Amino acid sequence: MIVTVTLNSAVDKTLAVPNFRLGRRHRSVEQTTLPGGKGVNIARALKALGQPVIATGFAGGPTGTRIVEGLTAESVLTDFVRIREESRTNTAVLDPTTGLQTEINERGPRVSEQEVELFRDKLLYLAQGAQVCVFAGSIPNGVEADIYAGLIRELRKRGVSTIVDTDGEPLRLAVRAEPSVVSPNVLEAEELVGHEFNDDDDRIVAVHEMVELGAREAIMTASDGCFAEVIDDGTPQLYRVRLDPLEPVAAVGSGDAFLAGYVAARYTGSPPAECLRFGVACGAESTQHFGAGSVDPREVERLMGEIDVAPLALPAEVS
Ligand SMILES: Nc1ncnc2c1ncn2[C@@H]1O[C@H](COP(=O)(O)OP(=O)(O)OP(=O)(O)O)[C@@H](O)[C@H]1O
Ligand SMILES: [Mg+2]
Repeated sequence: MIVTVTLNSAVDKTLAVPNFRLGRRHRSVEQTTLPGGKGVNIARALKALGQPVIATGFAGGPTGTRIVEGLTAESVLTDFVRIREESRTNTAVLDPTTGLQTEINERGPRVSEQEVELFRDKLLYLAQGAQVCVFAGSIPNGVEADIYAGLIRELRKRGVSTIVDTDGEPLRLAVRAEPSVVSPNVLEAEELVGHEFNDDDDRIVAVHEMVELGAREAIMTASDGCFAEVIDDGTPQLYRVRLDPLEPVAAVGSGDAFLAGYVAARYTGSPPAECLRFGVACGAESTQHFGAGSVDPREVERLMGEIDVAPLALPAEVS
């Protein structure tokens, strides 16, 4: 079983509004409402890829009920801690004439210490039947920034692989707790290693730096694939994975689909290079759908052949 953790789950509302302009009244021509938050999107994609997954985290109030019921309707298993305050609704406006997307995210609920304790108990209970646990997304008010770090340490003791996709302070602390995999995008990785990247050499060095900070494996996603340092037959190996970007319908959540693909392939025992290829195919395919975490496995298969996976060496000046 794979467990996904979403501490700041949400109802994600996406409105298609042609010629969106500030200060004007608009009518949406299309709209979707889906349970969301990164871990929830990853669970949706894992389900689509046929992997056994259970989504946990916090869900509160009528919006929390909608999240849980929405996932149940999608046949995604859930076991959320119900909290007193109301879960978030996030609104995105997608302008099909420009392809631009504007997002307005609510602040979300405050979670009490007692609710955090309930969650810890639940996760450690679920971990008994899990091989992999994915921590994804931001941390709500009231929850300490080191929550992922603490849970990573607990799960490692229990032999569960841990995967982290977050940013800022929670990511910095989580990496030091030696998770199995971290998977930031370029901006998040720049913040983590503390400098900007000017060229591909910088990007390759950055994934290696993330490993030196504590992650066993590090993947940095980019809009044309990813850079990664993974363990291949017991030894660290760097890869550059490339795919010509597709014209997106909606690119939001492509990082979540990438991670679901990578985790699904790992879970079924594929070699690391193939896991990266599959992840990139899933990330790309998801851009062709409106809802975050939606992937069509047949289209993913078709894209696999168009992806270039190249092993790399560390640039001379740092190796
Ligand atoms: N336009 C695109 N065409 C093809 N593949 C894409 C495109 N945009 C993103 N991808 C793929 O999706 C993966 C994740 O991309 P990216 O780094 O942009 O994610 P992200 O910023 O974490 O997104 P989010 O946080 O919204 O999920 C990458 O591996 C990339 O290959
Ligand atoms: Mg991301």
